[in-house]
Amino acid sequence: MNCVGIFDSGLGGLTVWQAIKQLEPDLPCLYLADHAHLPYGPRGQDEILRLARQITRQLLAHGAGLIVIACNTASAAALDTLRDEFPATPFVGMEPAVKPAALHTRSGVVGLMATRGTLEGRLLRQTAQRFAGHVEIVSSECPGLAEAIENGVDDAALMPQLHTHTAQMRARGADTIVLGCTHYPLIQPQLGQLLGPQVRLLDPAPAVARQALRLWQAHGFLLPARTTDRFASTGSASRLQAMLERHFKRRADVESWVWQNGELCSDSPPTAA
Ligand code: DGL
Repeated sequence: MNCVGIFDSGLGGLTVWQAIKQLEPDLPCLYLADHAHLPYGPRGQDEILRLARQITRQLLAHGAGLIVIACNTASAAALDTLRDEFPATPFVGMEPAVKPAALHTRSGVVGLMATRGTLEGRLLRQTAQRFAGHVEIVSSECPGLAEAIENGVDDAALMPQLHTHTAQMRARGADTIVLGCTHYPLIQPQLGQLLGPQVRLLDPAPAVARQALRLWQAHGFLLPARTTDRFASTGSASRLQAMLERHFKRRADVESWVWQNGELCSDSPPTAA
């Protein structure tokens, strides 16, 4: 096995990729941004499962030994099923950090920013019931926010949106806000400016990175002598390249992968696993 396969609907999952690289720079990654289907948030669970299944197959064909679903929406729709369908493959999924938020809150009110797909998912309901029964969770499905981040809207356009998305949680006195979509850590500075230093923002990416590294080691996968990460997009490769540079100061070639009749095809030959 030669890499960790990571995917999201777009650039959001790169916040998880970054957490992985901060933890273990030598862990080789293959990142796919499914820009052709962004946003995932409003899509049905069946459709996301179909996409996630195809993406998983393609990442495995390219040598992934471990799959990180760096997308809360796709984790909600597909994680359980993919684990059943690919029993030999370890998966790490995103789960909104409701449990640590419930432990941390002093006001007893937790804000949750996530997509509709995540908010409607069973994973979140179960976690909230199990670990956060004693706190009030005020959620917002933040329509259009992931797209605004993808489009790199400026603060003049972004701040009014954030004002609206957080209005109810601010009014209820939330002191802890869960970033339940992997795109949202990219706007932490703007959220911090709006909410003030007394409100804590929780991003599960570091915990997900730790779990990915644990599983990589537990399966006996090795770290290569020389690591080259690969990046691919099903939309515009040059756009993902520009985003990598802008948000992560990373210069890299980006491959174009394409959807054809419901199947995902890459422009580079699969590697033997
Ligand atoms: N980044 C994805 C997530 O974590 C969602 C963005 C989208 O709606 O495509 O849920």
